[in-house]
Amino acid sequence: MISVAGVTKFYERARVLDQIHLELGKGEFLYLLGGTGAGKSTLLRILSTEELPDAGTVSLFGYDLATVSGTALRAIRQSIGTIPQDIRLIPDFSVLDNVALSVSLGGRRALPAQARSRINDLLERLGLGPRRDQMAMTLSRGEAQRVAVARALARCPELILADEPTGAQDRDSAWGLMDLFLKANLTGAAVILATHDREIVRRVRKRCAVLKSGRLLLEESLCTY
Ligand SMILES: Nc1ncnc2c1ncn2[C@@H]1O[C@H](COP(=O)(O)OP(=O)(O)OP(=O)(O)O)[C@@H](O)[C@H]1O
Ligand SMILES: [Mg+2]
Repeated sequence: MISVAGVTKFYERARVLDQIHLELGKGEFLYLLGGTGAGKSTLLRILSTEELPDAGTVSLFGYDLATVSGTALRAIRQSIGTIPQDIRLIPDFSVLDNVALSVSLGGRRALPAQARSRINDLLERLGLGPRRDQMAMTLSRGEAQRVAVARALARCPELILADEPTGAQDRDSAWGLMDLFLKANLTGAAVILATHDREIVRRVRKRCAVLKSGRLLLEESLCTY
């Protein structure tokens, strides 16, 4: 599903990622760890096809991103649910419209019944039911972050790239989000979760990858974060 080989990324002269190798299969779950500034978000932006590496190759769903056609790239993007660290909601759209747009470009009016009920269910589970018609710009950071999770999960992605999705949550909400990621994972989605949340990493044991000085160290079994 994801195959990364020799990926290197510079910002100006600084080497942020240095010869990264990573393989992730269908339905796998991986924590992405590392101190602040280690390059977690940069790697996730490359995996979500938002940025290109300066060297190395990235293949997603069997397609090399350097040579993929526009049509295949659109299909790849449709299969990925991204929760960016900076959230990025459309500020003057409602919660429901922000989520609906990720499923259908026609917004809430063009939603098939099944997607509509899935979105309503996600908003309820995320405690956003009462907020569905509220403008995104008026949400608290924690609420906005949960909308970003609903937006990513609404399209039933095969790959979830979550960048510190529990960073602005209280403990109960953080575990609620984790529950949704684990359920998606159980039904076949691959998940990469960048996090500083030690409690979650300690209590839900998964494979870990740690970024340090631009290098990625894989810890295949339990990780001692
Ligand atoms: N667009 C950019 N231009 C210049 N430098 C950048 C850019 N984006 C990131 N960087 C730098 O790259 C390094 C890695 O940043 P990144 O955001 O990937 O780290 P991170 O591991 O996600 O950190 P955090 O845990 O704080 O989110 C940092 O030193 C950052 O300043
Ligand atoms: Mg980051």
